[in-house]
Amino acid sequence: MTTPPVLASSREELHDALKGSASSAAGSSRVGFVPTMGALHEGHASLMARAREEIKDGPLVVSIFVNPMQFGPGEDLDRYPRTLDADLRISAAQGVDVVFAPAVDEVYPAGLPQVTVDPGPLATILEGVSRPTHFHGVLTVVAKLFGLVRPDIAVFGQKDYQQLALIRRMVSDLCMGIEVVGAETVREHDGLALSSRNRFLDAGQRVSATALSRTLFAARAAAPYGADVALAAAREELRKAHGVDLDYLELTAPDLGPAPASGEARMLIAARVGPTRLIDNVSLELGETTASTRSTTGNGEL
Ligand code: PAF
Repeated sequence: MTTPPVLASSREELHDALKGSASSAAGSSRVGFVPTMGALHEGHASLMARAREEIKDGPLVVSIFVNPMQFGPGEDLDRYPRTLDADLRISAAQGVDVVFAPAVDEVYPAGLPQVTVDPGPLATILEGVSRPTHFHGVLTVVAKLFGLVRPDIAVFGQKDYQQLALIRRMVSDLCMGIEVVGAETVREHDGLALSSRNRFLDAGQRVSATALSRTLFAARAAAPYGADVALAAAREELRKAHGVDLDYLELTAPDLGPAPASGEARMLIAARVGPTRLIDNVSLELGETTASTRSTTGNGEL
């Protein structure tokens, strides 16, 4: 029998629950935190398990908040899935102590804040090209949630790789003193990265969506032959895809700077499958080459 987490929907309830679980934690009192927008799946469960591993018997907090500030006009804020009962069951199974699920005006009591987090230049590339205000909203809410929960350690998924890089940068640039852990992406048996948005895919789109991970895996397999060969392998895989509208395919350094000539790199992809926008990325190890092309960006049906 798992003990259900305390459900806190106000700042006061969160505060009381944290006081309660800190005093009941034997030994370690490191607070672990997994911020989410709910619609939890195995990927989130793995973030919770990772946080638990780090904090041992310290209090583990999960937030569930669909943050309006990170959705642009015409994005899927209204249709974003809200599944609190199922989310509580998943949290309970992972031994979460507190689920913080506030309403919008609990987080933004005076409307949008006047003081916000400017994410800087890293937010203008990749996702930032088609979602120019997204990371401003993400970093502002994460900073607020960090202020409310005051975690020692926070776990985010590598699936949102640019988000993870920006959160690390915020914590370092603003001296927040929180350990940020990036957990491995969890995938379906056919490679599709788990995402709350996968539930929007119909059967045909679900098949099409596997093109994203296939593209990345093809590049990773070809990476020992160099960046050009890796990119060519990725493009070839995309050419075979149906119903996939590519937004970008980029090869970068692990810190999202220009791709190195050889060594560790990252490949990131974003595409629309039907109305659903999906992202994914992998690390790859580039072998030596003479010349390298940094990126390829595409638009339109492939
Ligand atoms: O990755 C997410 O689910 C969200 O962007 C986050 C970090 C919870 C902020 O709203």
